[in-house]
Amino acid sequence: MEFSVKTGSPGSQRTACAIVPIFEGALRGAAKELDAAAGGALRQLVRGKDASSKLGSTLLVPHTSGGPAARWLLVGCGKADEFDCKRLATALNAALNALKGSSVREAISYLTYEPPGGLDPYYAARLSVETARGATYRFEELKSKNDDKKPRIGRIGIAVGASGDAQEARRGIREGTAIANGADVARDLGNRPPNVCTPTHLADVAREIGGRCQNMKVEVLSEREIEKLEMGAFLSVTQGTEEPARLIVMHYSGAAKDSKPVVLCGKGITFDTGGISLKPPPKMDEMKFDMCGAAGVIGAMAAIGELQPRLNVVAVVPTCENMPSGRATRPGDIVRSMSGKTVEILNTDAEGRLILCDALTYAKRFEPRLMIDVATLTGACVVALGHLHTAVFSKDDDLAAGLLEASRRSLDSAWRMPIDDEYGESLASNFADFANAGSREGGASVAAAFLAKFVDGTPWAHLDIAGVAWRANANKGATGRPVPLLVDFLLHVEDA
Ligand code: BES
Ligand code: MN
Ligand code: ZN
Repeated sequence: MEFSVKTGSPGSQRTACAIVPIFEGALRGAAKELDAAAGGALRQLVRGKDASSKLGSTLLVPHTSGGPAARWLLVGCGKADEFDCKRLATALNAALNALKGSSVREAISYLTYEPPGGLDPYYAARLSVETARGATYRFEELKSKNDDKKPRIGRIGIAVGASGDAQEARRGIREGTAIANGADVARDLGNRPPNVCTPTHLADVAREIGGRCQNMKVEVLSEREIEKLEMGAFLSVTQGTEEPARLIVMHYSGAAKDSKPVVLCGKGITFDTGGISLKPPPKMDEMKFDMCGAAGVIGAMAAIGELQPRLNVVAVVPTCENMPSGRATRPGDIVRSMSGKTVEILNTDAEGRLILCDALTYAKRFEPRLMIDVATLTGACVVALGHLHTAVFSKDDDLAAGLLEASRRSLDSAWRMPIDDEYGESLASNFADFANAGSREGGASVAAAFLAKFVDGTPWAHLDIAGVAWRANANKGATGRPVPLLVDFLLHVEDA
C-alpha cells in the first residue's frame, strides 16, 4: 500500500473516496468544506441521522452531485475535544473495514486534516499508516483462492490542512511504513503453521532480513554450538523433538562499536505441546503462536534495519519445539543452565523461561546498556490482563516508564506488573537451585521472578505478550504486537 501527504483543501481534491470525520455538533473541518462544495448535501445526511458522530460508525455515500470526491466515507469521531490519535486509529480502522468488498482502490483520509485540538502530525500520519496496514493485512500464502472481501485499496492520501506540517507527516509515513513492514514480518511468522514456521524457518527469515539491510549481520548457531555454550536449560526443551533447535543472533550496528547495545530477546517456541506435561487438546493449535516473542523481535529488527537509527541493537532468539517423546525431558529432571545455576523441571510446559534464561545469560556477553525479553510466557498473564495490554515487568523504574511511554505513543498498550523477589519463593527446590514452576497464583509474576534470577545488574524488562500477540475466534491470527512498542522505544533510546 502506498501513502502520500495531501496538502490541498477537501473542496478541491479529486479522489475516489474521501474519508471524512464527523464530530458531535456542528460540521467542522473537512466535513464543512465538502458540504459547502456539495451545496449542503453532507449536512442533510447528518441532520437526517443517516450519518452518526458515534466513534467508529460509518456511512459510505456514493456522491455524484458535482464535488471533487466520487464518494464520501463518513466516519463518526465522537466529541471534537476528545479526539486524539487513538480515536483517529479507531475511526480509520472502521473506515477501512467499511471498504471491505468495495471496489475503491484509492482514498484520502481527512481524519488528519486540521483535527480539532491539533494532533502531533508525525504520529497522526505514522499511526494512520500502521492502522491502515493492519486493517488490510491478510495471510493468504497458503490459500488457493484469495479472500474476495479483501479491501482493494492500494493508495491512501493523508491530508494535512493549511496549518499542518507536511514535512512531519512525511516522516510519519516513512517510519510508519517501516513499522508496518516489521509488524507484517511478525504477523506472517506468527500465522505460518508450525510445520512451516520451524526454528530453521525463523533463522532463514532472520538471515534474509540481515541480507537486505545495511549494518545488519545475522549469525545462526546450530544445536552443536548451543551444546558447546552449555545451555542446558535451552537444550532440555528441545530434547524431545526431531526438529533442530537454533540460536539466532542479529546484530544491527548503527552507532560506534563502543556504544553499548540494546539487547532484545524473543521466545521462539515454534510449537508448544507442553512436552511430557502435555497440554489438553482444545485450542492446542494456538500454540503455533508461541514463537510470537521471536517474531516481534525479528520484526522490530526488520524495521530498525529499514530506519537505520543511530544505535546498536542485538537480537537474541532461542528457538525450538516443545514436544513429548521417549527422549523428552521428564518432570523431575534437573538441568544445568548456562549460568551454572541448576533447575529442577517440575513442569515441562514451563519451557519458555528455560530457553530464555540461557538466552539472557548469553546476551550479557554483549555488555548491553539494557535488555528486553519478549515472550508468550504465561496463561496467567492472559487471565490478569486479557487481550488488551502487554505486561511489563521490570525492577528498573526508568526502563519501565520508557516502555510505558512508548506503548502510549505507539498505541500498542502496556501495563506494568509487579516482579517482587517474593514471587520467586515458590520456586524453591529441595534438589536443585530452584524449580522452573511454582505457585499458580500470580503465575505471570512468578515466571518473571524466575527470569530475574538470571539477570544480575543489567537494566532489564520482561514483556509477557501471551494475551496480545494473537487474536482467537473469527479474526484468529497474529497481531504483529509488540513491534510498534519496541520500535518506538528504540527510536527514543537514540534520542537519549
Ligand atoms: N506458551 C505457554 C503460555 C501460554 C498459554 C500463552 C496460553 C498463551 C496462552 C507457556 O509455555 C506455558 O505453557 N506456561 C504455563 C506455565 C505453567 C506450567 C507454570 C502456563 O501458563 O500454564
Ligand atoms: Mn508451555
Ligand atoms: Zn510456551
